[in-house]
Amino acid sequence: MDKIVIEGGIPLHGTVHISGAKNAALPIFAAALITGGVYRITNVPALRDVTTIASLLTELGAKVENPSSGVYVVDTREATGREATYDLVKTMRASCLALGPLLARFGRAKVSMPGGCAIGERPIDLHLKGLAALGARINLDHGYVEVDASNGLKGTRITMDLVTVTGVMNIMMAATRASGTTVIENAAREPEVVALADFLNSMGARISGAGTAEIKVEGVEELYSADVEVIPDRIEAGTYLVAGAITGGAVDLEGIIPAHLANIVDKLRECGCDIKENTNGVSLKAPGEILPTRVTTSPYPGFPTDMQAQIMALLTLSRGASVIVETIFENRFMHVAELRRMGADITVVGNTATVKGVKGLSGAPLMATDLRASASLALAGLAASGTSTIARVYHLDRGYEKIEEKLKGLGAVIYREKA
Ligand code: EPZ
Repeated sequence: MDKIVIEGGIPLHGTVHISGAKNAALPIFAAALITGGVYRITNVPALRDVTTIASLLTELGAKVENPSSGVYVVDTREATGREATYDLVKTMRASCLALGPLLARFGRAKVSMPGGCAIGERPIDLHLKGLAALGARINLDHGYVEVDASNGLKGTRITMDLVTVTGVMNIMMAATRASGTTVIENAAREPEVVALADFLNSMGARISGAGTAEIKVEGVEELYSADVEVIPDRIEAGTYLVAGAITGGAVDLEGIIPAHLANIVDKLRECGCDIKENTNGVSLKAPGEILPTRVTTSPYPGFPTDMQAQIMALLTLSRGASVIVETIFENRFMHVAELRRMGADITVVGNTATVKGVKGLSGAPLMATDLRASASLALAGLAASGTSTIARVYHLDRGYEKIEEKLKGLGAVIYREKA
């Protein structure tokens, strides 16, 4: 397996272009299954997870082409498959996003239950509860979930027990073809949910309230294919801001939607960073000394759990003690043990990590465990003295497009060692 090698201690300077958002692209590919047509999707990031969802669509009978960088043409007119097998779903739990679209189009779907992953059990009980409320019959059998609504879906009011991003996406996609109106309460408000609703509306759906806790979907008879541009990745953007802060440098991000980063920018300002926003970018100057702070992850517009590992790496070098509370996933401190091996002083009790700042980190051989943990290790490696190597770098490739190239463009000494 490939390794990433980083020579740390170099302040990063320069401009980095932010790619399309993984977590906006995946539901958009899935939504193309709702009705047969040809869809041109642009600003798609070149990521493993994107090739995985493209394989899933192909397995379901769609034709997926990638005519040029960032452009995908998806033809779902011949997509008749209704089963997403374990081999694909096990590599990416977001494959469960096929459930809603297949149910909407064919009245039935069979998708392997997504296994857990490093950060938690990742159940989809709330997805299924919502689809059942719309009239689908749910059957769990041999590790697969089968949903059936041969006599159609019927709009209704659904109150989500928990805020779930892909849960609300699945229910929203199914509800586009239900008869009558569906109201989803306690809905996730993430920008990726809004982007999906916008795409569905461009296909002829009638969705209102996306971005608020109450989403209304008026079922329609017909949906049509549409073209779409994927929104920029706010988590990739936050990760590069931390790269500038942790190395004592100054970075400019371009191609982003600053409003999507508000919570991340606020937190980095609390750490002493000087951040200026303009229409499609932000500029960060690292502080002379990193200030400690408190972080509690929460659904959007709160501080994103997908940035928790990255901000922890920054806080290991702060002048004081910080407290990080992870409220979304039950096992999202896998990066802690590896950061400790670099000299970080972190104590974890339950879902709370106390991070006491140290003078510096030292490079070490490291092991990635999940996507954002591996980003955290790369950030620590950029700041550490000496060389860090990160094994199992396929975790990084799931969510960060051309990471070595982008970091090299900021002055980092980083390269990939082929296995
Ligand atoms: C999405 O995952 C993102 N993935 C995650 O990003 C992100 O961390 C997460 O939202 C939270 O923002 C994609 O969009 C592809 P949830 P999702 O359903 O939808 C519990 C990354 O790094 N829950 O919002 O799977 C669940 O266990 C990934 O890019 C249930 O109990 O997350 C968790 O504790 C990691 N039952 C909480 O809700 C359900 O049916 C939030 O999960 C669904 C969720």
